[in-house]
Amino acid sequence: MRQATVYIDQEALQYNLNRVKQLAPTAKIVSMVKANAYGHGIKDCLAALSSTDAFGVACLEEALEIRNLGYTQPITLIEGVFSEDEMAIAINSNIEIIVHHQPQIEWLLAHKAAYQAKNLKVWVKLNSGMNRLGFKVPDIIKIIHTLKAAGFTCVLAMHFANADADNLLNEQQKNQFLQVKEACSPVMGSCCNSAAIFKWPELNFDFVRPGIMLYGASPFADQSVQALDLQPVMTFTAEIIALNHIHAGEVVGYGSTFTAETAIDIAIVSIGYGDGYPRAFPKQNYVAIHGQSIPIIGRVAMDMIAIDVTGLNATLGTVVELWGKDRLVDDVAEANGTIGYELLCRLSNRPVRK
Ligand SMILES: Cc1ncc(COP(=O)(O)O)c(C=O)c1O
Repeated sequence: MRQATVYIDQEALQYNLNRVKQLAPTAKIVSMVKANAYGHGIKDCLAALSSTDAFGVACLEEALEIRNLGYTQPITLIEGVFSEDEMAIAINSNIEIIVHHQPQIEWLLAHKAAYQAKNLKVWVKLNSGMNRLGFKVPDIIKIIHTLKAAGFTCVLAMHFANADADNLLNEQQKNQFLQVKEACSPVMGSCCNSAAIFKWPELNFDFVRPGIMLYGASPFADQSVQALDLQPVMTFTAEIIALNHIHAGEVVGYGSTFTAETAIDIAIVSIGYGDGYPRAFPKQNYVAIHGQSIPIIGRVAMDMIAIDVTGLNATLGTVVELWGKDRLVDDVAEANGTIGYELLCRLSNRPVRK
């Protein structure tokens, strides 16, 4: 059987959740489990996240999957509902919504009695300059006052565009959040994703919303998971299925992009872009064997890659780590010109999950 495998380390997930608790001891934790728990598999991740306070997802379908698995914690829909019909279904399953445009507020008011009867909070999204979702200042202040007067319990919510970097927009976003929070006082607040949890403990407020840090990847381009004291949750492996000795001048793989300068031993590993392993590597990329870094040579194909195992005692069946604790997903992402988030989320269904 082909051995492309994704292992999920539930203890690592719990460790990372505890890191959030250390960093934000007074806030409730909304664990972001959208996109199938950032590609890790929702079922296994929920089982490990039982001590979280709540979950955050992108849409009703993702929330209902959590309910169908039997979890009763609060769930927030970070894009809200997409129609009035969805509002009724959300309320029925105790799912909280974000409101970020006027029709959502009208749907909410139309279902006010049912929403409030379930003690659900309404998350009201501030657009403080990221310009994706939300109401701008001063409109949001009026909206929160109106919702409070109508008996809703509100959470002022915001998302940073550049929490992972130094950017002038950070100050503007912080200031607007604080201004609205003050103008609507008392109102609960939530604006921290993983990077903000590390950088701005003073902004933890009532709810933090960690995503990538839970899965043991870094939200920062210049700080490793070790430096942040996080543990990688996913280990992605495959096995060597062929070994070849090639001579100087011979080429490897599609497009013959690699030419051996000397005689080398190469191994073919059964992994490729059909599994979600990225194809394009502007920089040299590596895998790990027994903790040792091994270069990939030639192009990544749909089902296979070639690696240079000269001098290694590699055999058929030797396990190769594509990413995990030895070869960090953040480093593969960097060589691929992307971020760990994307690689984790875009794995295909072909690797076996354990
Ligand atoms: C609204 C919102 N909150 C929190 C998060 C979690 O962000 P991160 O994975 O960077 O912690 C996301 C992720 O995209 C988000 O969209």
